[in-house]
Amino acid sequence: MAMASSSLRLFVVVLLCTTAYSGRAVPAASSDDDAGVSGTGKVYTKVCEPARFAALGLNMTVFQYCNASLSYGERVRDLIGWMTVEEKVGGLGDWTAGAPRIGLPAYKWWSEALHGLSTTGPTTKFDNLATPHLHSGTTAVYNATVFANVINSAASFNETLWKSIGQAVSTEARAMYNMGKGGLTYWSPNINVVRDPRWGRALETPGEDPYVVGRYAVNFVRGMQDIPGHETVAAGVDPNTRPIKTSACCKHYAAYDLDDWNNNTRFKFDARVDERDMVETFQRPFEMCVRDGDVSSVMCSYNRINGIPSCADAHLLSQTIRGDWQLHGYIVSDCDAVRVMTDNATWLGYTAVEASAASLKAGLDLDCGESWIKDANGKPVMDFFTTYGMDAVNAGKMREADIDKALTNQYMTLMRLGYFDDIAQYSSLSKKDICSDEHRSLAVDGARQGMVLLKNENNLLPLDAKKVGRVNVHGPHVQAPEKVMDGDYTGPPCRYVTPRQGVSKYVKFSQHAKTTIYFGGINLHIEKEGNDREDLLLPMNQTKEIIRIAEASPNPIILVILSGGGVDISFAHDNPKIGAILWAGYPGGEGGNAIADVIFGEYNPGGRLPLTWFKNKYISQLPMTSMELRPVPKLGYPGRTYKFYDGSEVLYPFGYGLSYTKFVYKMDTNGTAVTIPVAGRHCKKLSYKSGVSAPACPAINVDGHACTETVSFNVSVSNSGGKGGSHPVIVFTKPPAEVDDAPIKQVVAFQRVFVHARSTVSVSFTLNVCKAFGIVEKTAYTVVPSGVSTVLVENGDSSVSFPVKINLSAV
Ligand SMILES: *[C@@H]1O[C@H](CO)[C@@H](O)[C@H](O)[C@H]1NC(C)=O
Ligand SMILES: *[C@@H]1O[C@H](CO)[C@@H](O)[C@H](O)[C@H]1NC(C)=O
Ligand SMILES: *[C@@H]1O[C@H](CO)[C@@H](O)[C@H](O)[C@H]1NC(C)=O
Ligand SMILES: *[C@@H]1O[C@H](CO)[C@@H](O)[C@H](O)[C@H]1NC(C)=O
Ligand SMILES: *[C@@H]1O[C@H](CO)[C@@H](O)[C@H](O)[C@H]1NC(C)=O
Ligand SMILES: *[C@@H]1O[C@H](CO)[C@@H](O)[C@H](O)[C@H]1NC(C)=O
Ligand SMILES: *[C@@H]1O[C@H](CO)[C@@H](O)[C@H](O)[C@H]1NC(C)=O
Ligand SMILES: *[C@@H]1O[C@H](CO)[C@@H](O)[C@H](O)[C@H]1NC(C)=O
Ligand SMILES: *[C@@H]1O[C@H](CO)[C@@H](O)[C@H](O)[C@H]1NC(C)=O
Ligand SMILES: *[C@@H]1O[C@H](CO)[C@@H](O)[C@H](O)[C@H]1NC(C)=O
Repeated sequence: MAMASSSLRLFVVVLLCTTAYSGRAVPAASSDDDAGVSGTGKVYTKVCEPARFAALGLNMTVFQYCNASLSYGERVRDLIGWMTVEEKVGGLGDWTAGAPRIGLPAYKWWSEALHGLSTTGPTTKFDNLATPHLHSGTTAVYNATVFANVINSAASFNETLWKSIGQAVSTEARAMYNMGKGGLTYWSPNINVVRDPRWGRALETPGEDPYVVGRYAVNFVRGMQDIPGHETVAAGVDPNTRPIKTSACCKHYAAYDLDDWNNNTRFKFDARVDERDMVETFQRPFEMCVRDGDVSSVMCSYNRINGIPSCADAHLLSQTIRGDWQLHGYIVSDCDAVRVMTDNATWLGYTAVEASAASLKAGLDLDCGESWIKDANGKPVMDFFTTYGMDAVNAGKMREADIDKALTNQYMTLMRLGYFDDIAQYSSLSKKDICSDEHRSLAVDGARQGMVLLKNENNLLPLDAKKVGRVNVHGPHVQAPEKVMDGDYTGPPCRYVTPRQGVSKYVKFSQHAKTTIYFGGINLHIEKEGNDREDLLLPMNQTKEIIRIAEASPNPIILVILSGGGVDISFAHDNPKIGAILWAGYPGGEGGNAIADVIFGEYNPGGRLPLTWFKNKYISQLPMTSMELRPVPKLGYPGRTYKFYDGSEVLYPFGYGLSYTKFVYKMDTNGTAVTIPVAGRHCKKLSYKSGVSAPACPAINVDGHACTETVSFNVSVSNSGGKGGSHPVIVFTKPPAEVDDAPIKQVVAFQRVFVHARSTVSVSFTLNVCKAFGIVEKTAYTVVPSGVSTVLVENGDSSVSFPVKINLSAV
């Protein structure tokens, strides 16, 4: 979504509030307020506050939706029962008008928290440090914790970190809510798989592997949402009533990973995707987010898929997210995704009324609009649902019963969030819980955990600060501004440390130092939402400057790269005068400290790349618009991501990352066999490479199989060097070699462990056979192939594997 212009919105809200209502008669309300959300009146943290109703001239007891003895379902039914159809339609957009006559305040749904509280969207409001006299000193909040960007956190391969960040962010969110400065519904995380290295939003995502992306989603969402003791519901309890701390949203569903490339924009783009790629790659993180993370919202994307806009596709929304995956929550559109169906993509020649009706019917519950569009009379158009909803109802194209369903999904979510009643353990969170010492150290630790060491000839790093004494620093990111370090979807950070400031804690700067550090890379002018990359290179003048400085330096120099996506720095990798290369991503408010701690050995880097770093030539081999993950031989397209591309144009592979020590693996097994008894009807056909004859039962369909079989093993990880460090152990499986069109390998598990110098740690894994050995066959069924699969654990220094023979035995 792009930026909102909120001044227009305010105007519209006022207009809607003065509309005459024709519903059930109630005592007249004197004024509106906006519980828990910044506004002019008193701040309430819950709707059902007798004093609030009294101030509106209402008697709260009359409204059973405030009766806490009733179930959420009964209360929501009561609330919707009070509403006129106009009020209901007014509730379908992201900035709702509410209904003051029945005590329902306005609510702004749109907040963001991709890697800390963000100022994107109309809801989260920080005070301005430049105008402190305008604020009462005690409640003014100028900033919040800005964690490293998601691509950095992904590189840590540390699920605990991902969850801890979600927990810290949701604590800061509830504190902001209590002060009337923020909402409860956050449209994060972004979990689209990075299919193409040119994508401008790689920095916002956990990378190119669907399973890793899915695990990131599950952990971040659980951190944002889970209240201790309420992680699950007891048998027989409706999961739609599970209380949550804040509401997260997995976006952008689905097959959305192109922003603006060669005049193909995300608004018009029709992604041509086959069903196998949908199941295996594009939908998988979303399925994990909903099923395993129990997320309370999913956002549909701008693009079309095989001709149909994602936000109007009943198969993708109602049938899959809500039906198959059992979403407990609401589905929201990317901002203006309904509008682009008529303004940009002209889908089926639909009018605004028809596009709105089709989307609601397909399962879209809430329409976000950006409000910068004006209609023929110059009147700002908010979202399409509230603007055209009444026309759609009156034309018989939108059913009130479907509107009620959408509102039920919305208000159930707000009930679970304590919007109506508050949540006792969070009601005292306040300014002191934002930028707390604990959150700031998590930010610096998280940034350190994601640093990836790409080259380290002759152990140039870490530098010994005492021996080195002084360093030269060069490059465009020496004093990188917040805009570079904090990346996208950010808010003002508690503290902001540049690379130079970080380094200055260890050494002095001087002209004649023998050691040089170059801080280079790219920035958000090159990769950003709405802007895909033209190439994978550094700007040419930067490349020239790096080479010139390296040649002039007496000693090999150190190159630090800031970027979200991969950069083709082959010239630096191959240059002996460039001794070390460190990838720092966009490491957030504490980033300068994290970089310096790694350079000077205070922290031993353990990050591994969450996406392939391709050489630039790769992008000339296929257009960004081709959605296929597998190679397309007749068009000469190589495959995409480490799962399907084994070509030569890779600089650093997925999972690459060095350390100041070496980690060597050993496995306690030479192989194992699993026998799965199958009834003939579960057998599925597979494509085999030519010359291979298919066995009687080539594969079993995991649907309809209990999938209880597991494979367990331990990997011993020995730190053979003199420095302790953390290391992510990544487990891949490889399907039987004779199966055609299968992934080369796929991540099925990972665990980050700390290993002391010259010590060994045993890491145990238990793989579910269906999940770890399953592949998606041509017709999009997930199957376990018969034959010998392989379990593989490898890093640049060590590789171990063992065969797993899967015997599908007929019964
Ligand atoms: C509020 O309504 C309840 C239930 O109708 C009634 O018993 C009570 O007297 C009312 N209170 C006031 C102050 O009007
Ligand atoms: C709240 O609901 C319960 C259960 O239906 C009912 O017994 C009680 O009277 C209601 N309270 C009020 C104030 O209406
Ligand atoms: C993109 O559109 C612009 C303006 O219409 C045109 O000048 C340009 O040639 C187009 N670029 C490509 C790659 O098609
Ligand atoms: C989409 O439509 C809007 C409204 O007509 C227009 O302002 C905008 O430029 C269009 N965007 C694209 C990418 O076509
Ligand atoms: C963050 O806010 C605090 C006051 O709460 C202020 O002292 C500090 O300077 C702010 N930090 C930045 C980077 O503006
Ligand atoms: C490269 O050129 C751009 C545009 O002129 C300039 O902004 C930038 O500072 C230059 N970078 C270097 C490293 O010289
Ligand atoms: C694996 O095979 C090797 C060579 O046959 C043997 O030395 C080793 O003990 C075996 N390891 C296990 C765990 O069975
Ligand atoms: C893994 O190690 C643990 C602890 O040493 C041991 O109890 C377990 O049996 C081992 N698992 C396998 C599959 O060897
Ligand atoms: C994983 O992250 C957590 C939370 O930041 C941290 O405490 C832990 O040390 C990390 N684990 C490893 C092995 O680095
Ligand atoms: C598969 O399992 C069945 C049943 O245990 C056994 O009879 C058969 O020999 C096994 N086949 C192979 C190839 O291991």
